[in-house]
Amino acid sequence: MRHKGKVLFATGAGSGLARAVAQRFTREGGRVAVADFNGDAANKVAAELAGAIALQVDVSDEAGMARAVGAAHRHFGRIDCGFSAAGIAETDPIEDWALERFNRHIAIHLGGAFLCFKYLIPIMKAQGGGAIVTVASVAALVAQKHNGPYGAAKAALLQLSRQVAADVAPFNIRVNIVAPGSIQTGMTEPYMLKRGNGDLARGAVLHAQHFGVQRVGQPDEIAAPVCHLLSDEASYTTGHCMVVDGGLTLA
Ligand SMILES: NC(=O)c1ccc[n+]([C@@H]2O[C@H](COP(=O)([O-])OP(=O)(O)OC[C@H]3O[C@@H](n4cnc5c(N)ncnc54)[C@H](O)[C@@H]3O)[C@@H](O)[C@H]2O)c1
Repeated sequence: MRHKGKVLFATGAGSGLARAVAQRFTREGGRVAVADFNGDAANKVAAELAGAIALQVDVSDEAGMARAVGAAHRHFGRIDCGFSAAGIAETDPIEDWALERFNRHIAIHLGGAFLCFKYLIPIMKAQGGGAIVTVASVAALVAQKHNGPYGAAKAALLQLSRQVAADVAPFNIRVNIVAPGSIQTGMTEPYMLKRGNGDLARGAVLHAQHFGVQRVGQPDEIAAPVCHLLSDEASYTTGHCMVVDGGLTLA
């Protein structure tokens, strides 16, 4: 029950990694504002979690994010933790990217985290502390085929998070980053399905054959380290990028 009495604002929590974080955070005693562009998905996740609320928001929309964080703060009376995970993934040769699509990746991944910082940190400062985790990717660290705009957005997000970590450390606010490898979620399953010619299990095995652990990860294998980083157990850890990739980047 290490999050007892704590409140988490989590973006992208209608699915995948942030849904798993919301579920684990609730099991560990906390309450969650489940924020997602997909309002139906947010409602469904929140309905299954004790004390949770759902918020429909586009993380790249400043007015929307100000409203969503404000609504969560009014509802719970506090926000102790933030998890910025909303994201999209598309791959293409660089010459096939329209500038608008490139900008959308930056706006969601980098802008979404920026708006989390901008609207959560004043609340945490007033409360005397807090903890935020952002989601980068191994794509921020190594090159991946046709993944330039995504990797660039994640690399920038990594450095933004480190910069903010340094700025807010004196206010007892910690900011850490998780860099997942390949985790089976709504984002990655289409790639695995394609790889397995429609057979998801076979595609996941083929996809992971060069990873150290020889398998893709499951969302709770990211939720566990994230909930550690959000907890007081990580009280001396800030500005840290935790790579959780089953050895994908070791070779
Ligand atoms: N799954 C992986 O292998 C993996 C690896 C590295 C990094 N990541 C990152 O983890 C994060 C979560 O990904 P996931 O795998 O859980 O994917 P997912 O598709 O399962 O979940 C992403 C969620 O973000 C929401 N979202 C998308 N655009 C949004 C917007 N503009 N505003 C609000 N919500 C929005 C979607 O509706 C969805 O519910 C992403 O930032 C992704 O880049 C995932």
